[in-house]
Amino acid sequence: MRAFVAEQSDDGVVRGVRDDFETGDLGEGDVLVKVAWSSVNYKDALATIAKGQVARISPLIPGIDLAGTAEGSGEEVLAHGYDLGVAHHGGYAEYAHVPSEWIVPLPGGLSARQAMTIGTAGYTAARCVIALEAAGVTPDAGPVLVTGASGGVGSTAVDILAARGYEVVASTGKGEEFVRGLGAAEVISREDAAGDASRPLEKSRWAGVVDCVGGETLSGAIRGLKYGGAVAACGNTGGVKLPTTVLPFILRGVSLLGVDSVQTPIEARRETWKRLASDLRPPHLDDAIAHETDLDGLEDALTRILAGELSGRTIVRL
Ligand SMILES: NC(=O)c1ccc[n+]([C@@H]2O[C@H](COP(=O)([O-])OP(=O)(O)OC[C@H]3O[C@@H](n4cnc5c(N)ncnc54)[C@H](OP(=O)(O)O)[C@@H]3O)[C@@H](O)[C@H]2O)c1
Repeated sequence: MRAFVAEQSDDGVVRGVRDDFETGDLGEGDVLVKVAWSSVNYKDALATIAKGQVARISPLIPGIDLAGTAEGSGEEVLAHGYDLGVAHHGGYAEYAHVPSEWIVPLPGGLSARQAMTIGTAGYTAARCVIALEAAGVTPDAGPVLVTGASGGVGSTAVDILAARGYEVVASTGKGEEFVRGLGAAEVISREDAAGDASRPLEKSRWAGVVDCVGGETLSGAIRGLKYGGAVAACGNTGGVKLPTTVLPFILRGVSLLGVDSVQTPIEARRETWKRLASDLRPPHLDDAIAHETDLDGLEDALTRILAGELSGRTIVRL
């Protein structure tokens, strides 16, 4: 079968399409999935470069998410996270062996293509929205900021939040027209979102924040929260450091909510996917968000996502 493979060598990582993989080489997993779609996430790119520190086996078929048909049962399924595409061969191949405890039945109302347009990134966006709402953020509480808004997590977060009636402010370095099309009411620069790092607090602006960037951007978002507001922090494209003081926490009672998509217990994951097909469904799955590629186009897409150049979601047709 054809697969995109990343393999460590003395000089770094060799990556590219190969046709010498057998389904018997795919590792443990009681469900053989004929993969229809996978997608391109920032972490997939990290899994294919020497400095990425993501791949835990070599050779590795990357692809942290996939959707397709279970051989035998004929059930339509999806899977993402856990060890997939990291320590277990992932979605960039015509077949994958997936442990049944990682399997999510494709929810009614979503095609495999739409599920991978959502993918790990959109699932993470949904977990951020769920976290903010559990912390008491509501559409009438005020504007919600999304940082890294033109990326995969950010664009899906804008789409979901706007559809739920939030006033979405999108911070982006490149995608103003795109995020407005998804429903952003206002667009601000990356610098404006990061604010003035010398200040202990910014003007109270945000009822909630979905932060995909980390670093100075997350720090500025925390300083700009309204009283009782919350940030869902899920990303680090702008850095892993978090320079902050305790003042927003003790003077404005704000919350910093960590969001992880990889290890969500499977029952909560399956419930979140049901909501992604219903009340958290992003409206622009079939047009603005999705860009298609295939195994031969992956090399370019992986290079571009690391450079911060991709907008929306790039899906991989198997
Ligand atoms: N916690 C989890 O489980 C989880 C799950 C999925 C993803 N993530 C993380 O979430 C982040 C976003 O993932 P993604 O797949 O959406 O990636 P993506 O498509 O590359 O989006 C990231 C966006 O961040 C912005 N950005 C890039 N470089 C930046 C910089 N130096 N400074 C400020 N902004 C920058 C860009 O948006 P603009 O041009 O619009 O500013 C870019 O499009 C990544 O860090 C990823 O590892 C975490």
